Amino acid sequence: MINKEQLISYFMENGILISPDFFDSLDNNFDVSKFLQLFNEGQFSKSFFIGKDLIKDLEMGFQNSRVYTGAIVTSNLSETKQNEFPNILKTTEITTLEEEVPETIQNNYKNNVRVVFSYDYKNKKKEVQDFVNYFKKRYEFLKKILSNRQELQDSLSIARLPRKQEGDIVSVIGIVLNKTQTKNDNIRITLEDPTGNFDALITKSKSDLYNLAKDVVLDEVVGISGVMGKGIIFCNNLFSPDIPINHELKKSPDEVYTVFISDIHFGMKDFLTSDFMKFVMWLRGEYGNEQQRQIASKVQYLFVTGDVVEGVGIYPGQEDDLAIKDIYAQYEEATRYFKMIPERIKIIICGGNHDAMRMSEPQPIFDKIISRGFYEIPNMILVSNPAVVNIHSSDNFPGFDVLMYHGASFPYFGDNVPSIRDKGGILRCDLIMKFLLQRRHLAPSHSSTLYVPDETFDPLVIEKIPDIFVSGHIHQITVSNYRNVSLINSSCWVVQSEDNAKRGIIPHPAKIPIINLQTREIKIMNFLDDSIKVLFVEREAQNESS
Ligand SMILES: [Fe+2]
Repeated sequence: MINKEQLISYFMENGILISPDFFDSLDNNFDVSKFLQLFNEGQFSKSFFIGKDLIKDLEMGFQNSRVYTGAIVTSNLSETKQNEFPNILKTTEITTLEEEVPETIQNNYKNNVRVVFSYDYKNKKKEVQDFVNYFKKRYEFLKKILSNRQELQDSLSIARLPRKQEGDIVSVIGIVLNKTQTKNDNIRITLEDPTGNFDALITKSKSDLYNLAKDVVLDEVVGISGVMGKGIIFCNNLFSPDIPINHELKKSPDEVYTVFISDIHFGMKDFLTSDFMKFVMWLRGEYGNEQQRQIASKVQYLFVTGDVVEGVGIYPGQEDDLAIKDIYAQYEEATRYFKMIPERIKIIICGGNHDAMRMSEPQPIFDKIISRGFYEIPNMILVSNPAVVNIHSSDNFPGFDVLMYHGASFPYFGDNVPSIRDKGGILRCDLIMKFLLQRRHLAPSHSSTLYVPDETFDPLVIEKIPDIFVSGHIHQITVSNYRNVSLINSSCWVVQSEDNAKRGIIPHPAKIPIINLQTREIKIMNFLDDSIKVLFVEREAQNESS
């Protein structure tokens, strides 16, 4: 019989982490003393994580024990967490693998990160005029894009419309002030520009146009062309700013990978500790098969798109979901994990609605005091939410522009855009992201997210067309492409909380999208433990039947 206590206490003294599945995989013939003897002989002298895969190695005479080298980590876990993971052990010194990466490999990593846009937060009292100017700036920018369309080149300001004769062909660009359904089921849209407002009618008989109009949301900027009627325009065309159809699909000259994660929620009871550890180990070249480790060795960029910690006071009753109840300790925990990631990988990180910063967008970069540890990580680049970051440029290559946005506005559009709602709503991040790219705005409707207006420009406008648009928030992985922009919603590292369940979120945890920047191919790697996978299948089945 295996004496678990004997093993646990032995490893505790040696600073080793053991996965629960390790014990599940042992059979009655497992020789504890032989195992300890090999351990003492140095087979695992630098091991820090022992999982069920080790059993296979044991059977092979420890041929692959190199997989488990490294060092870790785990002090200062809250009491609850210690109880929950009794096999997560005491601290040893954190070391990075940097010195273990051969110099030749390091020299090949000429990675390059340039922050194109990160919001510089100025704490200033806001006045009504700031809102007016904010919408004016949005209108001016998006009008410029729309005016490039041939059909809108002669667009009129709204104040000039009443002078037009009935039957005249007109075009106009405005912000959607109102949208209603008439008693005949036609759609009436009121457009506003700095000179006034005017109505346009989209009749049911023009079915393609009518379907486009159904998806129009308040406060988005649109262009229309049509025929003048009595105090109304009979609409023939409806345009969004959109991105050009011929947007270039950029490919890096060398084989380099970028990985995307979000919604880690450090501090939550349900944080998938061992799955996240496997992910970190994979980045360190210590986990996965040969091919997977090959890819890990070529990862140069890691994007973390918000909800890094679970936070405190986010929703009623959250205390019950917390393993670490102190926000400072949550960020300390996050820092410990990020420090394990090899320094050759640049970590580009922004906040989300659970992070310790103002909730209103644009959210500034992480706080210097609360998230102090982040400022000590040399390979970490802190940006606002949203942000635009250019990676991997060189003398001959412009690099890739990555638009990061946590995604607080996504549920609104999942609920309020009929074509998205009909196809799954919040669970169709791919459609939501495409919708927002077409609007060239991350949260076009006033009530779709919390925001602070900037009187000089609209920071939520998608000014630069990205090569990659990445988000989180929904805890579901989606990968798609719209006009050569890769759309990625990265998944999470927690199981479904009660709050998630209330909001209809069925998470896809521990899955990471990886882009090969040379081919632009996206692969998804799954770090989810088998026992948790079963739990998810059951929960998904329950959700479907309810
Ligand atoms: Fe989240």
